[in-house]
Amino acid sequence: METAKTIEQVRAAIKTARQQGKTIGFVPTMGALHIGHISLIEAARKQTDFVAVSIFVNPTQFGPGEDFEKYPRPLDADLAICEKNGVDIVFAPHVNEMYPGRNLTRVNVDKITEPLCGLSRPGHFRGVSTVCAKLFNIVLPDYAFFGQKDAQQVAVIKQMVSDMNMPLKIIVCPTVREQNGLAVSSRNQYLSRDQKAEAALIYKSLQKCRRMIELGTFQSELIISEMRNIISQSPDMNIEYLSIVDAETLDDLKFINRRALIAVAVKLGRTRLIDNIIMDAQKY
Ligand code: PAJ
Repeated sequence: METAKTIEQVRAAIKTARQQGKTIGFVPTMGALHIGHISLIEAARKQTDFVAVSIFVNPTQFGPGEDFEKYPRPLDADLAICEKNGVDIVFAPHVNEMYPGRNLTRVNVDKITEPLCGLSRPGHFRGVSTVCAKLFNIVLPDYAFFGQKDAQQVAVIKQMVSDMNMPLKIIVCPTVREQNGLAVSSRNQYLSRDQKAEAALIYKSLQKCRRMIELGTFQSELIISEMRNIISQSPDMNIEYLSIVDAETLDDLKFINRRALIAVAVKLGRTRLIDNIIMDAQKY
């Protein structure tokens, strides 16, 4: 496995792989790799011949007061995980390599960046779309793999790729969960054991939602109120949003009559946790 710190080095490796007729799969990450990231690497290995992983804690997607400084950066352990899982090249650039000198260009996706996480994290998705556009231009992948856990991120990146005619396909992989249902996240490291147990209520509320829809309840208000009751069993969890929206447009759905995204964000202590499921009402 090759480890590249510079854009030039990645471009050279990708060029060689292409000359060998290989298809390129790309998994962008911020490191602190866990089984969620590994599932994306596995999907990339299955579907493509040459797998590139980026490890870059992107400063432009963190707001003031967020955890940019505190974000875990266990690079050696991450490289070992990549090596073990058959990654061909890791791109782990320094901030100056990605953002040298004057950076005056931003990629901004309108509208779908406003609700849900956009409400409490202004500018976050602009940072994500900008760094992904840069990484796509550096790696030039055929396929890029993203996790459903970050559903709004998926919607934003798909929209950008479509609007900007970027020549790659976005592949969405299912959310990997801990045994108690908690979505695996690099930020789970901030939680105590007790908090992790409490955080299981988030997925429990999503399962309740799934059951209600399966049994024929389609009014969002009723579902949200039941979900709220479950999450409120923990006095330490503050709901930031609990929304049922159209899975593509992210517009609020009062009545679930199409593919719906049910998305939750909570603050547990100082840790922000998000999770979601997709339900296709037409199936029920
Ligand atoms: P990061 O949080 O490191 O996540 C990298 C990828 O792993 C994302 O596509 C995310 O959705 C996926 N992922 C995280 N937890 C997962 C889980 N439990 N199951 C499945 N997939 C999971 O998302 C980012 O980094 C950044 O915003 C990035 C796209 C790299 C741009 O900086």
